[in-house]
Amino acid sequence: MAQLWGGRFTKETDKLVYNFNASISFDKKFYRQDMEGSMAHVKMLAAAGILTEEERDDILKGIEGILADVESGKLAISDEYEDIHSFVEANLIDRIGDTGKKLHTGRSRNDQVALDMKLYTREELIAIRQEVFELIETCHSLMKEHVHTAMPGFTHLQKAQPVTLAHHIGAYMEMFKRDYDRLCDIYERMNYCPLGAGALAGTTYPLDREMTASLLGFYGPTLNSMDSVSDRDYVLELLSALSIIMMHLSRFCEEIILWNSNEYQFVEIDDAYSTGSSIMPQKKNPDIAELVRGKTGRVYGALMSLLTTMKGIPLAYNKDMQEDKELTFDAYDTVKGCLALFNGMLKTITFHPEIMERSAKHGFTNATDAADYLVNHGVPFRDAHGIVGRLVLYCIDKGISLDDMSLEEYKAISPVFEEDIYDAISLKTCIEKRNTIGAPGPEAMEKVIAFNEKWVEERRL
Ligand code: ARG
Repeated sequence: MAQLWGGRFTKETDKLVYNFNASISFDKKFYRQDMEGSMAHVKMLAAAGILTEEERDDILKGIEGILADVESGKLAISDEYEDIHSFVEANLIDRIGDTGKKLHTGRSRNDQVALDMKLYTREELIAIRQEVFELIETCHSLMKEHVHTAMPGFTHLQKAQPVTLAHHIGAYMEMFKRDYDRLCDIYERMNYCPLGAGALAGTTYPLDREMTASLLGFYGPTLNSMDSVSDRDYVLELLSALSIIMMHLSRFCEEIILWNSNEYQFVEIDDAYSTGSSIMPQKKNPDIAELVRGKTGRVYGALMSLLTTMKGIPLAYNKDMQEDKELTFDAYDTVKGCLALFNGMLKTITFHPEIMERSAKHGFTNATDAADYLVNHGVPFRDAHGIVGRLVLYCIDKGISLDDMSLEEYKAISPVFEEDIYDAISLKTCIEKRNTIGAPGPEAMEKVIAFNEKWVEERRL
């Protein structure tokens, strides 16, 4: 048991209490950020005249040594310390002696842990944003490739109107673009430094908070010391953005699972991203898509857990807040992993355009276009809707599609129909005529793709 306090205690901490209280098993994850924060703090202390330059250099060398040894595996972060802050300080004192005891001048673990969590979260946000960007690039190139790949569009999982694969993927492209921009928004709001807030009320030392903020790449210091040590809004914002990302991935996965099924056969997931069955030799299962869909729950769980933890906490720091870490870290890792795997799966998937096109031709996806044909010939839309409804019923009865009906059959239901009905309801026309911006028509699609091209280029790192 190694802890930073004990002066005012007359008894050892109960072992169970110690273990319950300790956080090293999970806060060791941000050992690097903890040491980076300490190094910035020490540089500032020296600049403010609180430490001598010699003390600063000794401490910096000491921390650099600890960092190098941890990274090379020479020094293990053992669970005998209460938390990562105690581990670093104890090791520093071991290495450089009494000067090491000055590291914590003008600082509390409350502002220290607030800083560590923020530095760690900021890096994770950037890494996740990069994964989202790479997925966006995959969607963008698939869109360029499939402007003319027809497929059925669905509502209520019933065939509705024909669209294209570019259009369908374009819907996810919009979602992922929003996800990306949401992450940027969060970054802008969170990038202020809590270091210097002390336990809750700042310090009496002449700390230069602007300096530590700038050394650590923040826009500036946070403006209220009580808020600084007890704010986890940025974690909640990120977890909520991550929950939305997982919801998007989960929906896309659900579609891929359907498309990959025997019934649809729109796609085939690559062997490298599929798994087999231990009993049924014919099976090739979409486990990766299912797992991504399944993991959505744990990311939502992390968000719910932290919201619940935070809801009753009085100002300022309370130990409840130690619960901000484990599920959050798990959510960061989960989302990064899911994005990378999903992107790999999407990049290697084989689309079957002929099957998609055949499917688009059946199921009366051109019924609206037949009604629009009548409208263009002067029939009010509501009457046209009724006439085409009767056509569909007639076709279902005969087991044929609208394209298979003879002109006589058309005319028997409405004399307005002429020879040009066949062209008006052909799959090609149905798609090509839909050219308002945002629609699947190739002209509209090309405009959106050009817009996306710019969007991607502007954000390429
Ligand atoms: N392990 C603690 C946490 O994660 C660090 C802060 C401890 N502060 C304190 N006053 N006990 O929140």
